[in-house]
Amino acid sequence: MNGDKPFKDQVGLVTGSARGIGRAIAEDLADWGANVVIVDMDQAACEQTAQEIANKYGVKGIGVACNVAKKEDASACADKVKAEFGTLNFLVNNAGVIRDNLMLRMKEEEWDMVSDVNLKGPFLMTQAFLRLLIKAEPSRVVNISSVSGLLGQVGQANYSSSKSGLLGLTKVIAREFATKNILCNAICPGFVQTDMTGSLTDDVQEQLKKMIPIGRPGQVKDISRVVRFLCSEDAGYITGNIIRVDGGTATGI
Ligand SMILES: NC(=O)c1ccc[n+]([C@@H]2O[C@H](COP(=O)([O-])OP(=O)(O)OC[C@H]3O[C@@H](n4cnc5c(N)ncnc54)[C@H](O)[C@@H]3O)[C@@H](O)[C@H]2O)c1
Repeated sequence: MNGDKPFKDQVGLVTGSARGIGRAIAEDLADWGANVVIVDMDQAACEQTAQEIANKYGVKGIGVACNVAKKEDASACADKVKAEFGTLNFLVNNAGVIRDNLMLRMKEEEWDMVSDVNLKGPFLMTQAFLRLLIKAEPSRVVNISSVSGLLGQVGQANYSSSKSGLLGLTKVIAREFATKNILCNAICPGFVQTDMTGSLTDDVQEQLKKMIPIGRPGQVKDISRVVRFLCSEDAGYITGNIIRVDGGTATGI
């Protein structure tokens, strides 16, 4: 360990990190000394977040615009990280979208869009970074799924399916790379207050809050601290796991 900077000289990439849970994850990695790659859709937003984090934590930060659902973007992103840092220790597949609709009304485009970002995205990004991850020490992949992928939520055929699929992908990565140095786990957040959940109607937000035994909505730090733990030396014997961070919402599943 390097004192209070256990991730010093290590590199973490978080997708969807210009805001919300992803940004909190990037900040927590940087707080422990990691250099960070901020990946999101808009270059200016990525660069601004990277700069703010770099200034606040005294690490290197770069912003890379990348649509995780596009193979060419994922491989261009890997090329940039290789050129800039030569390595990647932590890949956090956090970018995600919702396009809720009841089954009867859900459009094919709504299904495709959500599946492409939430499931194909982590597949493409992990594949693009495998060569760097295999050589890195430590080497971790953390996938941000959802309790919706465990429970199945009304109006979320696309989202729940993509997040369940991501749990399957997590287990495959864990098994295929267990002897090749990469540990891979998934986190299932419950209701967390971010722009994503802020876009839901007040009624839906109230319903979701009522499902939380702990009695309060999650904060981004509730999730980012667990991601950081999974990246840490203390989590060196954990792989293929699904960790609910949901205030008890999916207890009993
Ligand atoms: N907020 C919650 O209650 C909650 C609960 C369970 C799971 N999650 C999951 O946590 C993750 C983060 O959620 P959040 O609440 O911070 O969402 P958010 O909408 O606040 O942030 C998501 C970020 O991902 C980016 N993004 C979207 N599509 C992208 C793409 N194709 N390529 C790159 N970046 C893209 C967005 O621009 C945005 O900055 C998501 O995967 C979400 O499904 C959130």
